[in-house]
Amino acid sequence: MNIMNTRIIGISILCSLLTVAAGSQSGSKTVTDRMNSFVNSLMSKMTLEEKIGQLNLLKPDGSVATGTVVSSDVENKIAKGQVGGLFGVIGQEKIRQAQQLAVTKSRLKIPLLFGSDVIHGYKTTFPIPLALSCSWDIPMIERSARIAATEATADGLNWAFSPMVDIARDPRWGRIAEGAGEDPYLGAQIAKAMVRGYQGNDLSANNTLMACVKHFALYGAAEGGREYNTVDMSLVKMYNDYLPPYKAAVDAGVGSVMASFNTINNVPATGNKWLLTDLLRKQWGFKGFVVSDYTGVKEMTDHGMGDFQTVSALALNAGLDMDMISEGFLTTLEKSLKEGKVSRKQIDDACRRILEAKYQLGLFNDPFLYCNKDRASREVLSAEKRMAARQFAEHSFVLLKDQDNVLPLKKAGTIALIGALANDRSNMLGTWAVSGDFQTAIPVIDGMKNIGGGNVSVLYAKGANISDDTAFAKKINVFGTRIDIDKRSPQEMIDEAVGIANRSDVIVAVVGEASEMSGESSSRSQITIPESQQRLLRELKRTGKPLVLVIMSGRPLILNWENENAAAILLTWFGGHETGNAIADVLFGNYSPSGKLTTSFPRSAGQIPIYYNALNTGRPNGGDEFQKFHSAYLDVENSPLFPFGYGLSYTSFSYGEIKLSNSQLKNNRKITAAVTVTNTGNMDGEEVVQLYIRDMVGSIARPVKELKGFQKVFLRKGESRSIQFDISVNDLKFYNSSLNYVAEPGEFKVFIGTNNRDVREASFIYEGK
Ligand code: NOJ
Repeated sequence: MNIMNTRIIGISILCSLLTVAAGSQSGSKTVTDRMNSFVNSLMSKMTLEEKIGQLNLLKPDGSVATGTVVSSDVENKIAKGQVGGLFGVIGQEKIRQAQQLAVTKSRLKIPLLFGSDVIHGYKTTFPIPLALSCSWDIPMIERSARIAATEATADGLNWAFSPMVDIARDPRWGRIAEGAGEDPYLGAQIAKAMVRGYQGNDLSANNTLMACVKHFALYGAAEGGREYNTVDMSLVKMYNDYLPPYKAAVDAGVGSVMASFNTINNVPATGNKWLLTDLLRKQWGFKGFVVSDYTGVKEMTDHGMGDFQTVSALALNAGLDMDMISEGFLTTLEKSLKEGKVSRKQIDDACRRILEAKYQLGLFNDPFLYCNKDRASREVLSAEKRMAARQFAEHSFVLLKDQDNVLPLKKAGTIALIGALANDRSNMLGTWAVSGDFQTAIPVIDGMKNIGGGNVSVLYAKGANISDDTAFAKKINVFGTRIDIDKRSPQEMIDEAVGIANRSDVIVAVVGEASEMSGESSSRSQITIPESQQRLLRELKRTGKPLVLVIMSGRPLILNWENENAAAILLTWFGGHETGNAIADVLFGNYSPSGKLTTSFPRSAGQIPIYYNALNTGRPNGGDEFQKFHSAYLDVENSPLFPFGYGLSYTSFSYGEIKLSNSQLKNNRKITAAVTVTNTGNMDGEEVVQLYIRDMVGSIARPVKELKGFQKVFLRKGESRSIQFDISVNDLKFYNSSLNYVAEPGEFKVFIGTNNRDVREASFIYEGK
């Protein structure tokens, strides 16, 4: 699309319809009344074709297509009123030009929505969402969305395809990187925070944008962890474990919802009326609009749901409002209407919802509200935002091991910094950093030199390719080189690294995945560090020098050897723009790690799916490992290597016994559970105090533990504090087999601790009404 050449004309020529837009109407009317009368008036002037045009979401040619179709002839379609919104247009100038086309060339001059995958920051890239979730710092996560919104709106965008809230219990699935992990409670808190951060209190403010919760629904439960694969689960599991984060986003007022690619009960989400209408609109009261995922409508043909016209009608009838890329609505709905396969009301309803979103965003008042050159130059990649990126990264890292306090490192002596990822910019931003420029990211080597200071000598060697497998590298390098296969042989690289290690006091090996080894369409069946780097690590270990591992990854990895052989392991995920400085801050002790895992780390891929809030089974494993006929494996224990909620600090914390304010809970009352937490180590630090409960007897089997609260607290060295949690009847509720949300009388256990495994325990009786 040649929007670059389009003449820029002032907004004064907007048709009279638009100048009587929102705000200029009678002050006595409510906001909703004003919106309704505006949208009614506009729709009364629209042709059927124009209404259908609003349902069409396109991406201009020239950008990378991830599905089967790339929209073409966008410019012409905008002028004909056949486009409701665009995505993949980056930069306020280009967006301004495209908007100019819509508000000058199309008959009714209806402004466009401009969306983008603003997933973990916009141009300033923050740690990947899975990393951010490990901070357990809800205000910080909200701030990350707020900053992203400020930056993205200054650059023309008004719609973010975020938050991604898919619960994921299968680390083979690459998109585990994009969400908040395996827990519905934490996932729901994060979903709400992200929506608040993006949308603020006023969608029409020039620094807020509309969020889009995705992928509705259950996308994270793809069988075998294979991308786009079938999902099949019971309603009870769906309601209790997978739906809460989406519902939380809806309750927080999210403006839009994206349908997922997968089937639910064998019907693709995109055409699933139960999901999009009965559940989302009727049960949950969602008032915004639903967009498909990329070519989701067209893909229903491959799902076996019928030809293009049939699947397009299916989607509309199911409750889908906007068709991303497929153009099935654009090309078939008129015909389907004539043939009685869809109704005029269905088209009107969808069109109305999209116009309402535009109204709420303030686009009818000012289509260029979000295109402000001055703001863009002030906001985008500002020093302040980079500082935030650094802080967010430090708070997202998880210390998995620190034997004999090898960390923090002394700011003196010689450090052997080894690994392709230690001297790399291209992988630092992680997956789904579509607007971030990795050239402006800080590599680890720079951070180590910046923070280490003059008394530290940093010697660097690559040591190994991220992977030696050229065919694998080709798959990973579709968006540019992420795995750079060296001209030297693997042995030459190892020899160089070992040579440097022998001359150093400590080895810091930065190893793991390339950024595109997780994210969309990046499932792996073996979730270990690639063999080339494992070999390097084995050789480094033989030097006898203390081996510190810094692991980059977009998913939980299997780290048995690493855990047995490294002196320390700092898990840094993909840390975003300030990765190098943040890692060095933590390695040198400027910040004590406080992140906690939000996913279980398996010992073996055979344990997957693995999650802490599982059912007990009738033959729970425990005690004697040689006793037969228990729910167990012969070759690996059931527990994960690193459990949900786990993460160390440079200091240590002790927990006192739990004190309950009462041993009985009656309806509408609450119980307070208090525990004294003491910083028993030698540094100040933060701890995430976690509260779990277990419903001992239920009308359906209940999980062995469920997270119900957490507090991130800062304790000075030697400080003790009583941490209190209120437990109310709401915390005991679950969806029973009739899908009623109930609390059932009986015994409940309460656990408080530093992770879900290491906890104190108490119990109370819920007496019911
Ligand atoms: C496909 C992805 O599944 C979705 O998350 C993303 O928002 C769209 N493509 C648009 O890029």
